[in-house]
Amino acid sequence: MNNPISVKIKYFSSVVLSVMTAVYFSAVKTLSDTIISTQTEIEPAQEVRRGADTAFARTYYAEFILGFILVCVLAILIFKVLSDAKEKEREAERLEKIVSERTQLLQEKNRQLSRMNEDIIEFMGNIVEARDVESGEHIKRVKGFTYILAGQVMRDCPKYRLTPDKIRLIASASVLHDVGKIMIPDSILLKPGKLTQEEFEIMKTHSIRGCEILLSAPADWGLEYLRISTEIVRWHHEKYDGKGYPDGLAGDDIPISAQIVSVADCYDALINKRCYKDAFGFDKAHEMISNGECGAFSPELMKCFAKVKDDFESFAKDPNKSLDDLSQKTVINHTKLGGKQLLLIEDDELTREMTAGIIEDCGANVTRCENIIKALDILNLQEFQEFDAIILEMVMPDIEYPMAIGMIRESGVPGADTIPIFLLSPFSSEKDMNRALEAGASAYLLKPLTISALSKAVEQYT
Ligand SMILES: [Fe+2]
Ligand SMILES: [Fe+2]
Repeated sequence: MNNPISVKIKYFSSVVLSVMTAVYFSAVKTLSDTIISTQTEIEPAQEVRRGADTAFARTYYAEFILGFILVCVLAILIFKVLSDAKEKEREAERLEKIVSERTQLLQEKNRQLSRMNEDIIEFMGNIVEARDVESGEHIKRVKGFTYILAGQVMRDCPKYRLTPDKIRLIASASVLHDVGKIMIPDSILLKPGKLTQEEFEIMKTHSIRGCEILLSAPADWGLEYLRISTEIVRWHHEKYDGKGYPDGLAGDDIPISAQIVSVADCYDALINKRCYKDAFGFDKAHEMISNGECGAFSPELMKCFAKVKDDFESFAKDPNKSLDDLSQKTVINHTKLGGKQLLLIEDDELTREMTAGIIEDCGANVTRCENIIKALDILNLQEFQEFDAIILEMVMPDIEYPMAIGMIRESGVPGADTIPIFLLSPFSSEKDMNRALEAGASAYLLKPLTISALSKAVEQYT
């Protein structure tokens, strides 16, 4: 019903019908006028025939008038059907708008609920930390460091498939990393001074005890949240070389969530005073983690850690910033996407929303559509100048991508021949890439889309 092509066909047919009616009427009038005017020139001797012709002309004229009335009735009926269709379209649009508004409302309620959940979880973390008097604001800072570092890993290490939503979950779950300490006796937890080996062994059990606590976590935390929380609680003391505890996991057998929280936890422990040590300076803490003095971390993670050195330091000086503040600082400022207008053409709804979400979290505005026809409608309405680039999914169900690129390039809208088109492809071969560039794509981006790749393309072509 909302298909713009069918609307165009309807309008076109009504125009054709109107023209045909007008032509029909003028033809009838001309013909009957001709017959009657011809009869005025007829000789008196042909009186009888003239009478017959006049009668014929009048009958003929009457038939045409009747025909004309029928055409008019038909035209009225068709116009009625068309206007009903238009009315239905308007109704459908109205319903669509209501659904969209209600969806937004629901999403906002979900967000509020999720914020409430986060607050409750943070509250739980605070209860744990309240017992460990020296830690104070530790969990709040670990959450911030985790978010900053996870953001860098998301941009630089696509193999971990982190997304803005996931790094938020990791940061949120990081507050529970020491939840198991609630099961550790005060005599050990609050002991001023170095723990004996036996005491340290008991202290180490906090990671497994924490998992036991999580078993009774409310079901509405969701499976993903519980999974990430469990990874962090159990494995935040594992080391990349396998020398950590409780399971001695090594390399990427340690989930990335736990690896990131481990660095954040370690950094915060170093820059703050503890009962067994003084606080180290920011540079010293960074150096100690980077050179392995606090145990082995992944080399890739250390590259990311090096890039966020200043962000860690500035957050440590002002740890009251929310994740939203950090998102502005750590995600948007590191990309060239802030303020850009992008059109995303992707047929798969889930991929489309996920991709758009990642890009929007970097401050860009994304207009989404599921096929090239819709895209052309949007472009025709908004004009190319309003978009900085188009991201086109390579594998679409109804159209080959070279044709889709051609349709954009040859649409005749100003700017269509030069707007950057980034082809989003699941294939990494050079042959595919060259074919795409020959077809008119400006850049060839691989799935899953990473912010660094998109950012680079945007910087180069817009
Ligand atoms: Fe711990
Ligand atoms: Fe900790």
